[in-house]
Amino acid sequence: MTTIIVCDTCDYSLLDKLHNGKTGGEILAEHVERISTGTAITVRRQSCLMGCERHCNVAIQGDGKLTYVLGKFDPTAYSAEAVVEYAERHAESESGQVPFKQWPQGVKGHFVARIPSLK
Ligand code: FES
Repeated sequence: MTTIIVCDTCDYSLLDKLHNGKTGGEILAEHVERISTGTAITVRRQSCLMGCERHCNVAIQGDGKLTYVLGKFDPTAYSAEAVVEYAERHAESESGQVPFKQWPQGVKGHFVARIPSLK
């Protein structure tokens, strides 16, 4: 199972933490939760992934697979669609490594870290 962890405390923009009373992370999480409905992807919220300066941040994890941390997302449906599509490719892959040609355009330039699995 692949899980998208969305930081729900990330700022909305460089100037504003909130937009209509919500953080950018909350807005992104809402988009990700809506778009992933009906897929095999699980979504969790986490307060701060320690990448605050490059908001908004997400992590994509699966049992026995590589974990990817991505950041610098605008809290938009476009970003969320790219994250969910990438997570689906991650779920289909054996190791968590998704071939570059399968990357949605919206995740390109957003990778921050790749973390090996514990086993
Ligand atoms: S507030 Fe989102 S990474 Fe710190």
